[in-house]
Parts: sequence; structure tokens; C-alpha cells
Amino acid sequence: MFQWNEKYSVGIQVVDVQHKELFKLLNKLLEAMKQGYASNVTNEIIMELEKYAVLHFQKEEFFFHRFSFSGTEEHIREHQHFIQKVTSLKADLKSGKIIISFELLNFLKDWIDHHILIVDKQYSECFKQNGLQ
Ligand SMILES: [Fe+2]
Repeated sequence: MFQWNEKYSVGIQVVDVQHKELFKLLNKLLEAMKQGYASNVTNEIIMELEKYAVLHFQKEEFFFHRFSFSGTEEHIREHQHFIQKVTSLKADLKSGKIIISFELLNFLKDWIDHHILIVDKQYSECFKQNGLQ
């Protein structure tokens, strides 16, 4: 299990709730890999990731603009990379290429370790100063 804990908190509740959803997806994949049926869930997980990305990034980016967050441009670029990766994985699946579950797993783990743990925290202060909690 890849457990969400306080170190992943960006200190903003609505964001943390959404980040926990990503952990759920990661664990679903991990569990399937352990049981040996990962190929059955990769498709579903990629679809879920696509939905997740749209909703979650929209929310963050809405606040960036509203609060004139100084790191907006750079941050949005990272979101775009995430979406590009998911789109390319989806295309791979569609063309019959078998997605290696490890690739997907590592992609999600890296995202959590780099984006959630480091990049997302950069807006915490700005969001708090603007009244979010
Ligand atoms: Fe973000």
C-alpha cells in the first residue's frame, strides 16, 4: 500500500481530498500488479487518470488565476506534461500496445514525489493568504 499521510498535505483541504484520490488509483494498480491482473486494470486506471487530471488541475488552476499566484505558468506546464503522458499512454493502449504496468506505476509515484510533495506545496502559502484552508 502506498499510504497518504501528513507529509503529502499541502495544507488545503479541498486539494488534499483530491490528492488522496490519486493515491487510491495508485493502490488499485499496485494491488492488481500483486495479484497478477494488472493488464485488466490499466485501461480503467488511465481513463480515471484522465478524468482526475481534468477536474483536479482545473481546480488548482482556477485558484492560481483568482489569487494571481506567481508560479502559475511553470505549474501549469507541469500539469500539461501530466496530461500529455496520460494521452500518450491512452494512445498506446488504443493501438494495442501493452502498457507495462511498471511504467504507469513509476509515472504515478514520480508525480507524487515530485509534483505533490514539492511543486504543489509552493502554492500553499498563497492559497492560505487568500483564505483557503
Ligand atoms: Fe498541481
